[in-house]
Parts: sequence; structure tokens; C-alpha cells
Amino acid sequence: MGLITWKPSLETGHAKIDTQHQALVDAFNALHTAMKLGKGKEELSRTLAFLKSYTVEHFTMEEELMDRFGYPGAPEHKGIHGSLVSQVAELCQRFDAGKTALTLPVMDFLEGWLVEHIQGEDVRLAQFLKAKGNQA
Ligand SMILES: [Fe+2]
Ligand SMILES: [Fe+2]
Repeated sequence: MGLITWKPSLETGHAKIDTQHQALVDAFNALHTAMKLGKGKEELSRTLAFLKSYTVEHFTMEEELMDRFGYPGAPEHKGIHGSLVSQVAELCQRFDAGKTALTLPVMDFLEGWLVEHIQGEDVRLAQFLKAKGNQA
């Protein structure tokens, strides 16, 4: 595990979704780099908070697309978003309270959901949107 390299298998084919995913990967990599460099708690906290808030913004954008085009998989996809946001929010809280450190297993967990969610639910959403003529 390490930095996430942007690769074709992470592309959904939907321009707006892909652009935001690249920014999420950048935010993850910034956090990973700050952790590796042994940056202070404040900087790590700020980097983690940015990842959380950008995640929320991105999920909101996807959910607006789901609603606009009547995506049948919306309830499940939104449910997964909700649980990811609570997990990251809890991580932020625990980190700020000094109850957890940003360790490799924690970064593995973040990398896992990011990559798996993109390649699973998000690819399916993008395929549906494409069939509806929305690719940007
Ligand atoms: Fe999603
Ligand atoms: Fe996404």
C-alpha cells in the first residue's frame, strides 16, 4: 500500500465524477504523505478534515445526479455513502481526541473504501448515467 496512482481502472467515464475522484485521490495522497513525513497532529487533522469535507461534497454531487436521472440503485448507493461518511467522521473525531493515530492500517482502510467504491458502485452509476445520455 502507499500512494494511490490514478489509473484507467479508476475511471468511470463520467467527466465530472472522474474529476472529483482524482481530487479525492489527491486528498488521500496528501494525507498519506503528511503521515509518512511525520507531520504534526494539527496538519494531519487539517488534511484529514479536508478529505472528509470533500468526500461529503462529492457524495452530494453524485446523489443529485441519482435523483435527477431516477437511478434505481440510489437507496443502496446512498446508504453506502452514509456509512462511509460516518466512518470517516468518526475517524476524524477519534484522531482529534487523541484516541487513534493515523497508521498504515487506517490508511489501508481509507484506500480500500475509496478504490472499491469507485470501481463498484460508482462505475455502475456512471454506466446508468451514460445510458441516460449524461457523461459530464
Ligand atoms: Fe459513490
Ligand atoms: Fe464517487
